[in-house]
Amino acid sequence: TSSVFLAACGSDEPASGGSADGVEEMTIKFSHVVAENTPKHQGALAMKEYIESESGGKIEVEIYPNSSLFGDQDEYQNLVSNNVQFIAPDLTKFVGNNPQFNVPALPFMFENDEEAIAFWDGEKGQEILSSLEDDGVLGLKMWPNGGKHLTNNERPIESPDDLQGLKFRTQGGQVLEALYSELGAGSESIPFSELYTALDQGVVDGQENTFSNIESKKFDEVQKYMTVMNHTRVDYAVFTNTEFWEGMNAETKEIVEAGLEEGTKVAREEAINLNKEAYDLIKERGETEITELTPEQIEEFRTALEPIYEEFEEEIGADVYEAARAAAG
Ligand code: LMR
Repeated sequence: TSSVFLAACGSDEPASGGSADGVEEMTIKFSHVVAENTPKHQGALAMKEYIESESGGKIEVEIYPNSSLFGDQDEYQNLVSNNVQFIAPDLTKFVGNNPQFNVPALPFMFENDEEAIAFWDGEKGQEILSSLEDDGVLGLKMWPNGGKHLTNNERPIESPDDLQGLKFRTQGGQVLEALYSELGAGSESIPFSELYTALDQGVVDGQENTFSNIESKKFDEVQKYMTVMNHTRVDYAVFTNTEFWEGMNAETKEIVEAGLEEGTKVAREEAINLNKEAYDLIKERGETEITELTPEQIEEFRTALEPIYEEFEEEIGADVYEAARAAAG
């Protein structure tokens, strides 16, 4: 009765003019670890706005940024338990479940977002995103962040030898670990929420991240040097709990799915905008000394890291390499 009354008053009508009558009332939680001025948060926000407006307020979407609900260590388990309905982790954080999630860590594989998107939207990428089904988790859509760059407190990094003896924080994963050890450096996986302090206190000498993550968490404040490398990437996918996803009725799911599409569009646009903006801000702040490598210097790193490909071919799969190279053009 109330929905008829509200519909008559027009207050429960979705903005599109469609009917939200059959939409279930629910609260959906989206948890992530990064700041608010990032492509991931902006994508989540667009998703929230679309779903809340199209459902006439019946669906509420709560976003928890900055590891405020769950962090790197516990967000996956809480998705499995349906305590959170959406997370969008850096894919390299899932290598423990499936080593094929190492793709964003393959050195110099993708030059830009477009190539990475082509891989994850393609058949192999989709297969990898579907590989968590046994846990009751569905990988839905890839959201890029961007290429990673090296920061550290010891010296300007201009050649592979410059990493000797330094220790870097990684997001996790076998390939990132191998990459640093190939260059004579050590590595340690540390949750994103603890990274600023770890850099500040010298637990590690450096780290690799996107301009957006470096700027929004002010890592440049506690890192003397930054080298623009674009050697590996931060790429996400939005993951959901299968039971939640399949339990929605058709009207509800239609709105949530369209909301995800809207969020994907915004996240993909903002990945480019916000990383550009962040690089400018880092330069403006002038806290860290920036090295931009020449093509010849990049080539030296590429050559030094070439053995990684052979080392992981069996674990990741020649078919995955082939699909990634095809997407990279
Ligand atoms: C990191 O841990 O450095 C990133 O993966 C954080 C993120 O979600 O972008």
